Amino acid sequence: MTKTRDSAGFHPGTPNEARVVDYLLGGKDNFAADREAADRAIAVAPELPMMAHEGRRFLGRAVRFLVAEGVRQFIDIGCGLPTQSNAHEVAQAAAPDSRVVYVASDPVVVTHSRAILADEVRTSVIQADMRDPDRVLAHPDLLRLIDLKRPVAILLISALHAIPEDEAALDIVARLRRAITSGSWMVISHPISDSSPHVTERLATLFQDRQIVKGSRRRDNVRSLAEIEPYFDGLELAEPGIARLPAWRRDRGEPTVDPESFWVVAGVGRKP
Ligand SMILES: C[S@@+](CC[C@H](N)C(=O)[O-])C[C@H]1O[C@@H](n2cnc3c(N)ncnc32)[C@H](O)[C@@H]1O
Repeated sequence: MTKTRDSAGFHPGTPNEARVVDYLLGGKDNFAADREAADRAIAVAPELPMMAHEGRRFLGRAVRFLVAEGVRQFIDIGCGLPTQSNAHEVAQAAAPDSRVVYVASDPVVVTHSRAILADEVRTSVIQADMRDPDRVLAHPDLLRLIDLKRPVAILLISALHAIPEDEAALDIVARLRRAITSGSWMVISHPISDSSPHVTERLATLFQDRQIVKGSRRRDNVRSLAEIEPYFDGLELAEPGIARLPAWRRDRGEPTVDPESFWVVAGVGRKP
């Protein structure tokens, strides 16, 4: 990335989470400050780049599974930069008529994503806060592409830990579930704390130490598996249920990763 424009919310000298993730994925949409923050995080948890790639592979498998189930409308809430193997690329490669709306609260993600998606007619990005799901789903730009009277898939991929209050995170999921029509799906992934004590300690440093991503005022929340299970209440989980990412419907030929060493779980559930 070579632009150094300083519009609202655009500070190349301050690490940005979405650009840090882009760097972890080996992308080029990041600045020196993002790479330094990512390297500090990698020093705490060397598995991060592998986990970022594995997260994309899971997204791909989940979206292809949903397309095979007949879903053609996707709402990706708490998206990062739509640079690599993202929901719209995967969905539209499998079914070109798929419509995808990305939802981001971060103005950097919105501005940059709009530039990347400028030529896309079935994909858009809206700026909205997932803490207000009703507003997200009522956004005119979302409704231009998505018909909420028909089944949709809501993606919350590594997004809910950004909501530190447990009740608020549960409420977001419950309100989204109520709003979508029968036959719709929810894809939720979340880091979990109940791995080895060593990993739990690492996660606390990663998610709560301001030194890792300087400038971030957020305190992310790492929950236990038992705290995440209620997110899927009222949904019929697709096989294999809630699983560590590498164990969720892995494709033959994908690189082998030990699921037990992987501290993110996911589930894909259908509203009956
Ligand atoms: C760890 S990243 C995950 C990005 C992407 N889903 C992925 O899997 O690569 C979390 C994202 O959630 C976004 N986010 C945080 N709080 C949010 C909120 N209240 N509303 C919408 N998005 C939010 C952040 O800006 C960030 O891009």
